[in-house]
Amino acid sequence: MILCVTPDKKLNGSCCVPGDKSISHRAALIGSMAEGKTVIHNFSKGADCWRTLQCLEALGVEIQQQENGKICILGRGLNGFCEPDDLLDAGNSGTTMRLLLGLLTGQDFFSIITGDPSLRRRPMGRVIDPLVKMGADIRARCDNTLPPICIRGTNNVHTVEYTLPIPSAQVKSAILLAGMNGKGQTTVIQKLPSRDHTERMLQYFGAPLTIKGNVICLQGRRPINGQLIQIPGDISSAAFIMAAAVLVPGSEVLIRDVGINPTRTGILDVLKLMGAEIDVLEQRSWNGEPVADLMIRSAQLKGAEIKDPLLPRVLDEIPVLAVAAAAAEGETVISDAAELRVKETDRLKAVASELRKMNVEIKEKPDGLIIRGGQLRGARVKSWGDHRMAMALAVAGLIADGETIIEDAGCIDISFPDFPDVMNALGAGIRAEN
Ligand code: S3P
Repeated sequence: MILCVTPDKKLNGSCCVPGDKSISHRAALIGSMAEGKTVIHNFSKGADCWRTLQCLEALGVEIQQQENGKICILGRGLNGFCEPDDLLDAGNSGTTMRLLLGLLTGQDFFSIITGDPSLRRRPMGRVIDPLVKMGADIRARCDNTLPPICIRGTNNVHTVEYTLPIPSAQVKSAILLAGMNGKGQTTVIQKLPSRDHTERMLQYFGAPLTIKGNVICLQGRRPINGQLIQIPGDISSAAFIMAAAVLVPGSEVLIRDVGINPTRTGILDVLKLMGAEIDVLEQRSWNGEPVADLMIRSAQLKGAEIKDPLLPRVLDEIPVLAVAAAAAEGETVISDAAELRVKETDRLKAVASELRKMNVEIKEKPDGLIIRGGQLRGARVKSWGDHRMAMALAVAGLIADGETIIEDAGCIDISFPDFPDVMNALGAGIRAEN
């Protein structure tokens, strides 16, 4: 599929975004480890979360998919899963693979988990190392670092005290899910905070998890019960609409029911730092996650410096922030972002290469980007098979001179299949063609 973007159409009105991808994965995985029924409303429409559901079904979990994103999961308890009779396929989803390995550590059977070519290039040593310490027998390609991964779990999970070498929510979550079956206390220490949806969701399900400063403690082997969950809108999907509304002059957009967990709101902080006007309205809480409506109006942006400790809070938003920087006055410097090189694609290289085609002055550093703002020019660009690249480039197209064509854009299905429709309902001109 290609996306053809016509610029200069202002955005007005209100919209919703799909259920949060990170929270949807966790609701499905933790609901499967609970006793009884978990009902999830507004489950993500993205292909990544459907991969998690398919893998769970292959592990014996009964899942009923109902209309309007409502899903019912019949939990199997902490270690009542069944050995799958085929490969588990995580598709493009790093979260599915890494979190599932945590769950499988406490299951006394053999599984093999694989993924698409992009996922088979992504580093898994970071999650294999702590899970082996917890008692899993894990073998993987390339010196135990790359998928496919064979895992034999155990009914004797060792508890660990593990200091995360990188601020990764996926690694933290895998250890905690494994620790649910550990005899005693699992402790995870994080030098920099990463998204905390697993901690919140485990607490919501009644797991004995405490957080003091940067130390998370979980008591294992304590059964949890099924819950009713409402998934907030995904702020990482909302980020594309926010950036578009800020950048296209004359725009005013209300995005309803967006998750504003403080570990995810770096995008609001950076856009405001750059001069955007964003009002956070009607704050409330859904199953332990803060939610709000966001009102965004267009504004002229100025360059900013984006680095630690902010970086983990805008990790997935760097491609669209690079587009905002390309239209801002002055220079934007992004640092401490080397992790972006091991996402769905090397996002630093991909952003630099594609935005250069659109007349942007952009330099790649080992750990970030230096971007000088100016006028973007419409061009034929490609997504590198990465959903966030495809949507960031579509936002760039909205403020470029002339038409922009984004090749290989079918990957938007990973997190936001309705992206063109939602944008067009607000007034954008984005045409999807096969
Ligand atoms: C995610 C964590 C982040 C993020 C990814 C989703 C999660 O990855 O980039 O899109 O749901 O836990 P890392 O844990 O590798 O930082």
